[in-house]
Amino acid sequence: MSAQNTSSNRRILVTSALPYANGDIHLGHLVEYIQTDIWVRFQNMRGNDCTYVCADDAHGTPIMLRAKREGITEQELIDRVNADHQADFAGFHVNFDQYYSTHSPENETFCQEIYTKLKDNGYIVTKTIKQAYDEQEGMFLPDRFVKGSCPKCKTEDQYGDNCEACGTTYSPTDLINPVSALSGKPPIERDSEHFFFKLGAFEDYLKAWIEKGSIQPEIANKLQEWFESGLQNWDISRDAPYWGFQIPGAKDKYFYVWVDAPIGYMASHKHWLTNNSDTPEEDFDQVWNQGSETELYHFIGKDIAYFHTLFWPAMLKGAGLREPNGVFCHGFLTVNGAKMSKSRGTFINAKTYLKHLNPEYLRYYFAAKLGNGVDDIDLNLEDFSQRVNSDLVGKVVNIASRCAGFVNKRFDGKLSNELSEPELYQAFTDASESIITRYENRQYSQAMREIMALADKANQYIDDNKPWQMIKDDALVDQVQDVCTMGLNCFRALIILLKPVLPELSKHAEGFLNIDQLSFADIHTPLLDHNINKFKPLMTRVEAESIEKMIEDSQESLKEEDTQVVSGPLADDPIAETISFDDFAKIDLRVAKIANAEHVEGADKLLQLTLDIGGETRNVFAGIKSAYKPEDLIGKHTVMVANLAPRKMRFGLSEGMVLAAGPGGEDLFILEPHEGALPGYKVK
Ligand code: MSP
Ligand code: ZN
Repeated sequence: MSAQNTSSNRRILVTSALPYANGDIHLGHLVEYIQTDIWVRFQNMRGNDCTYVCADDAHGTPIMLRAKREGITEQELIDRVNADHQADFAGFHVNFDQYYSTHSPENETFCQEIYTKLKDNGYIVTKTIKQAYDEQEGMFLPDRFVKGSCPKCKTEDQYGDNCEACGTTYSPTDLINPVSALSGKPPIERDSEHFFFKLGAFEDYLKAWIEKGSIQPEIANKLQEWFESGLQNWDISRDAPYWGFQIPGAKDKYFYVWVDAPIGYMASHKHWLTNNSDTPEEDFDQVWNQGSETELYHFIGKDIAYFHTLFWPAMLKGAGLREPNGVFCHGFLTVNGAKMSKSRGTFINAKTYLKHLNPEYLRYYFAAKLGNGVDDIDLNLEDFSQRVNSDLVGKVVNIASRCAGFVNKRFDGKLSNELSEPELYQAFTDASESIITRYENRQYSQAMREIMALADKANQYIDDNKPWQMIKDDALVDQVQDVCTMGLNCFRALIILLKPVLPELSKHAEGFLNIDQLSFADIHTPLLDHNINKFKPLMTRVEAESIEKMIEDSQESLKEEDTQVVSGPLADDPIAETISFDDFAKIDLRVAKIANAEHVEGADKLLQLTLDIGGETRNVFAGIKSAYKPEDLIGKHTVMVANLAPRKMRFGLSEGMVLAAGPGGEDLFILEPHEGALPGYKVK
């Protein structure tokens, strides 16, 4: 973590994938950031010099459109999300040396430099292609923004890249009755010149790189398939309007977001060096030039393997730069055996989790589940509580709480000056070798299993000796100090071994043991003839109630969706069951004046309205953000259901509903009674 090379120890640069700057961090993301953070902490605890950089992936069409929808600039959006992401990561003790943004001056420079080198080296070609174009919005549409029926199975409402029903991949022009997801109008086809990167030129290079064992066998197999089906030129340009960096020497052409995203790893590293090295330029070149002695590893999810194992190493090579030593893919997170789901409340945001549960529970649970393969991992919430409670609270922390009291109360907090059972301690130091190898190879689940087997040994030792009985026997009292010294040394060894996973608990344990920051080497020197501090509980049990609340909270955030106006033509949204006049009469519709309208922090679709119905005001959350700017609503009259039962939402209490109609998106209209309809008047 220091910019200088201090010793002959390894120098390592590590990255995690850059999360998109248009959404919240959720538990799925955290698999990756926790996996990486554990590895980085492990390396540094081994005495290696390991730097960890990341950033927000801040460019691309979805970010541009989201900013527009929210009525803010892209810069405002990405700044807000960046702060948000950093807070989430800090909450889970993910300790980046640098968390930056791809929308940075360093990144723009690197993109231009790399592109220019690729061009000079003959790896860029141009070609005119036909693309879907939305005339109303005045922009070319990314595949995901064209919808229509699948050309194969005819399922309606499919995206322009693949069919969710039958899995066929195609291009948007193949869709039956395609429409723009932005305007709802059929797109036209328009010609545009695009820039392509000649990926095929790197086939031999990539094959040789894979031969070195730089990627997992499962991914190497996947690559083999890609090689067999032939490496296509890669389209690296997008037409204006696009939120990204301009391609030098071309008019109204931008780099596709997946060009500047991995280069963002370099930019983040450079930014860190600028603030942490006296010779940033030299240090940077030493890391990124060919033949570098610094190891480079990328941690990613399996969904983005293509970009990191083909495009990225090829781009680096084409620009005369180094190769990554490894790209480590992990699988996807499921919760309770199924895809994370908003309606089940298992689509859990980092923030929601942190409101209810200790982040180290999750760090431990992920560690206990993660291997070095690409298998998906399941967060089973039942298993989660049991594991954490039985392993961390029941086994590890318990050792300290069983021994500390006696040492503090009966021996002035002093440990004995030798280990009474050196063989037992030896078992810990012996096992540490294998555990270190497990960490190095990212076999965390095996490491956790071996650590818990040691914890079992320590507890067994205490059970066998029963210090709580010895203390009552005058002849045995002195031995209690030895037994507890043994127990606490076992505990300290466990803390050393778990420290990459549980940094916060370890810090408290170091405080209690009255020692400096532990590293792996410390396991070889037991703590003897030493004064410890008073013991405070290091971790509490997972409460079932907290999990329930977290799920409830995750479901509640969905209630935002309910307030979205659902509209559909009669064909796919038939008229509901007939109601009596009495039923109708129950609905109290009133003219309301919009006294105030505001954005809601953290809500994608909602505006918060203060509605004046003549003599009283109501707070209402309405799903009309896509269509209205708050300032344009203030002063308008609308119609509200005034006697709807109030509903608690994540953002507060909603006391009614406004009526709106329209196809959705920007075309959504609140009902506006004619002038003269005064607030509070009944609507008939
Ligand atoms: N912006 C790109 C990465 C660019 S890297 C130069 C991206 N962003 S992402 O926000 O969609 O995902 C970030 C990382 O989180 C990816 O590695 C992705 O695989 C991982 N995960 C996102 N959802 C996940 C799960 N549900 N489970 C496990 N990992 C997941 O891709
Ligand atoms: Zn289909």
